[in-house]
Amino acid sequence: MSTFTPRVFSGVQPTGNLHLGNYLGAIKRFVEMQDSHECIYCVVDLHAITQDRSVWGGPKELARSTREVTAAYLAAGIDAGKHIVFNQSQVAAHGELAWIFNCVARVGWLNRMTQFKEKAGKNRENASVGLYAYPNLMAADILAYKATHVPVGEDQKQHLELTRDIAQKFNIDFADSIAEAGFGDAFFPLPEPLIVGPATRVMSLRDGQAKMSKSEPSDLSRINLTDDADTIAKKIRKAKTDPDALPDSKEGLAGRPEAANLLGIYAALAEAGIEDVIVQFAGQQFSKLKQDLADLAVEKLSPIAGEMQRLMADPGHIDAVLKDGSSRARAIAAPIMEDVRRIIGFIG
Ligand code: TRP
Repeated sequence: MSTFTPRVFSGVQPTGNLHLGNYLGAIKRFVEMQDSHECIYCVVDLHAITQDRSVWGGPKELARSTREVTAAYLAAGIDAGKHIVFNQSQVAAHGELAWIFNCVARVGWLNRMTQFKEKAGKNRENASVGLYAYPNLMAADILAYKATHVPVGEDQKQHLELTRDIAQKFNIDFADSIAEAGFGDAFFPLPEPLIVGPATRVMSLRDGQAKMSKSEPSDLSRINLTDDADTIAKKIRKAKTDPDALPDSKEGLAGRPEAANLLGIYAALAEAGIEDVIVQFAGQQFSKLKQDLADLAVEKLSPIAGEMQRLMADPGHIDAVLKDGSSRARAIAAPIMEDVRRIIGFIG
């Protein structure tokens, strides 16, 4: 058995504004991994352009969002000196390895991807080839660094399984060449997803059954990471509720998606277990939960918003962070790509 040094890789797409779901589901987890692992955090701008230009907003907006995601990483507490923060398009290994994986992954595997079906919508014939091949690029992101652990939301689980399938097929297809090159029985690790539990699956403030999303028309449905304190408090005050008092057990949340969502957000922000938060608010009215949640959300999120604003005012600094991160990322990926080329039989 080959063994691999633990390494974390994850990414966030620079499309539109970041919201609480991105923070609790991804960025906050990224921050937590830093003490125990070597981490590489990417702003996946190559992925952003897989959809229509109207979705990612065109060149100026892409650059702005790339800086905003970077600012969010830094403001949330990712240490870009100890770890790596960079944007995907500055490291050519991603595109190069993605091409190789286009030739490893099977059409049948990609046809099963539910996110493609959702994003392509009814007019599948008109989706970009890039949107179809998106999961192969994601596999390349992870495996160009031989990353072993990938913190992602529940919605990315299928893409992680595909990444493992690609790694395994590469290891098998080139087993002779991999052994000859001295890598034993596996060149790529099979990366493990670190999936955030359902407690931090953040839902819309207007509909407890829909995911909080940047594409929902009503801005009241989400808390943006750049919202100021008054806006955060107002959105929580206006959040949808049901007429009953809050339950005293987890079972009491069945059929009450809005109560479950607000209590779940409270628990995630307070870093408490959902059971404890249920006990804390048992029998109380929604108004009490909303007041306490607004206070907590402002306490936890306003410093991040303030720091993001400060960072965004100095794009030169953000660009320098990305440039430095990209050159360190390249230094890790380059020898791995050299091995990949040799294993496949490419000369040079
Ligand atoms: N597809 C991920 C998302 O939409 C973003 C992503 C791209 C990613 N490449 C990745 C996440 C590699 C983890 C690892 O959330």
